[in-house]
Formats: sequence, C-alpha cells, structure tokens
Amino acid sequence: MSAYPDTRLRRTRATGWSRALHRERTVTPADLIWPLFVGSGDAEEPIATLPGVSRWPVAVIVERAREAVALGIPAVALFPNTPPELRSADGAEALNSANLACRAIAAVKDALGDSIGVIADVALDPYTSHGQDGLVDATGYVLNDATVDVLARQALVLANAGADILAPSDMMDGRIGAIRTALESEGHVNVQLMSYAAKYASAFYGPFRDAVGSRGLLKGDKRSYQMDPANAEEALREVEQDLAEGADSVIVKPGLAYLDIVTRVRETFGVPVFAYQVSGEYAMIEAAAAAGMGDRDALVLETLTSFKRAGCTGVWTYHAAHAARLLNG
Ligand code: PBG
Repeated sequence: MSAYPDTRLRRTRATGWSRALHRERTVTPADLIWPLFVGSGDAEEPIATLPGVSRWPVAVIVERAREAVALGIPAVALFPNTPPELRSADGAEALNSANLACRAIAAVKDALGDSIGVIADVALDPYTSHGQDGLVDATGYVLNDATVDVLARQALVLANAGADILAPSDMMDGRIGAIRTALESEGHVNVQLMSYAAKYASAFYGPFRDAVGSRGLLKGDKRSYQMDPANAEEALREVEQDLAEGADSVIVKPGLAYLDIVTRVRETFGVPVFAYQVSGEYAMIEAAAAAGMGDRDALVLETLTSFKRAGCTGVWTYHAAHAARLLNG
C-alpha cells in the first residue's frame, strides 16, 4: 500500500454510490432464521422480557411462517411453551408425537410445504419440571448418555412431524452421532442437523427461559454442559467433534459476544456456521432503543451486518421479520 497522501482511504468513502460499490458484506432476508414461540392457549401471549415478541397459537404460527415466506426469510425455528402439567422429571412429553412442537411443525409444513424450512429444537428443557436440558440424577447432575438416548428418540418424533432441520441445543457429548444414526435408520436421510456446537453458559438467555416457561423451574445452572465463556480452543474441539459425527452446519451461541468464535470456526473448518443472536441480545437492543440510547433500526442492521462480516452463513434473530422489512425497503 502506498503512503498518504497517495493513499487516502477516505476517498472511496466520500459518496454513497462509492460506499455501495466497496461494501464487502451484505445482509439479505435470505440470511435470517426467525425463532418463534408456540403457545398452548388460543390467544397471543406477550413476553414481558422480550418486548415485541409473543407466544402464538399454532394457527398464528402458520401465519407468521407465511409472512416469513413473503419477506424472503428461508426458515423459522419453533420453540414450544409446554403447559406446566405436561412437564415432568423425565421430560416424557418431548416424545409425544402430538405435542405442541409437533403440531406446530406439521401445521406449517401442511400449509407451506417446501416454501419454508422448519427448524426444531432438540433438548428437553421445555418439557422437564426442573428446567434442565436433560435427565438429572439425585444430585441434579445432568446425565449424558441417558439423555442422548432420549434426544435421539425426540429427534425422530420431530422428524416424523416434518421438521426439515433438527437443531440440538443440549450440549451433551455424542448426541449428533446418535441422532444422525437414528435418522438414517428411519429413512430421514435428508433431515439436516444444525448443531449448537459451541453453546456457552450465558447470562443472555434469560428472556428465552421466560418465553418457554423454564426460568422459574430451573434449579442451579447449566455450566456442567454448556461452555465456559472464557474458552475458545474448546469451541473448536466441540465443532470438530460435531462435524465428525455428521453435523451439516454448526451454531455459535450467543452471537455478538462470540464473534471471534464464529470467525475461527469459519476459517478453521470452512463449514456453514450460524450465529444465534439470543434473547438477551434482542432485549438489550430493544431496551436501548426504548430508552432513547440508540436508533433501533440502525442497531438491528449494524449488528446483523457484523455477523456476516465475522463469517456467518446466516443468523438466528428475533428481529428477522423487522430486519427483512427494512432490507426489502
Ligand atoms: C435450551 C435453549 C436455550 C436457548 C435456545 N435453546 C436456553 C438455554 O440454554 O437455557 C436460548 C435462546 C435465546 O436466549 O434466545 N435448549
């Protein structure tokens, strides 16, 4: 590079057309995954800690998915809020083929077919009375192998309901391989596994736990299975292992505080990598905007752009529909 003033890096920034011409990364609606919460009631249920996000009855979830198609959003992710009376220590409702998640998946696929991808979460926390993602022993420790057996069965239930992508968010060891084997054995050869490979034990999940009704139930924390926020090398081992077991793509979660992990995963493995801009991140943007501390639309688009710059293939975000509207003009 020549020295100043032969090189003036501001030259290409001087006008809008030139900034557009030199832009290295862009976000489009096709980069977005829209998480939606399914409620068991027949009315909208607003979530106090996630302003602007509600749980919706299955019929309305179908309308949201239709909206996603119209906006150019390729996939929705469905999270059920299981009624309290159906939660149990072993999370058995997860294996009920007529549970809320399955009914929502089937309704969206029936209405919209392959015009949209439906992602289903594999983990037991919406179904357990203790709020943990797996089965616990007498001390409250989350058992790995026993949980993996249940997750493989849950995965089949979700695939049979019509899920296109299964996203295991539980962080048990060996679950990707077990789920892949189960899917292959039942002929679900094209059901994808998007693994939450590097999922951290984060303080940013609070509003989500309100949305799926597990916050009040959760005893202790999830640090014996979700990752320590201080660790990066370990994230690469998690990703490597999930890829070796058959993951089609991986997720880094949360998003903004972990962009270094996204970049390293992309550069190390060259595989599709998604970030999950989680509930607490969404809530921070909404709170800042409501308090007059920043412009909401600009904050939304800037953060989404940062994910693309870091190397993301796509982003899970509760702002998906709003962002798509902004991007579509
Ligand atoms: C649990 C799960 C969580 C999220 C997605 N799946 C919460 C947790 O691990 O406690 C968080 C998503 C968000 O905060 O938006 N299986």
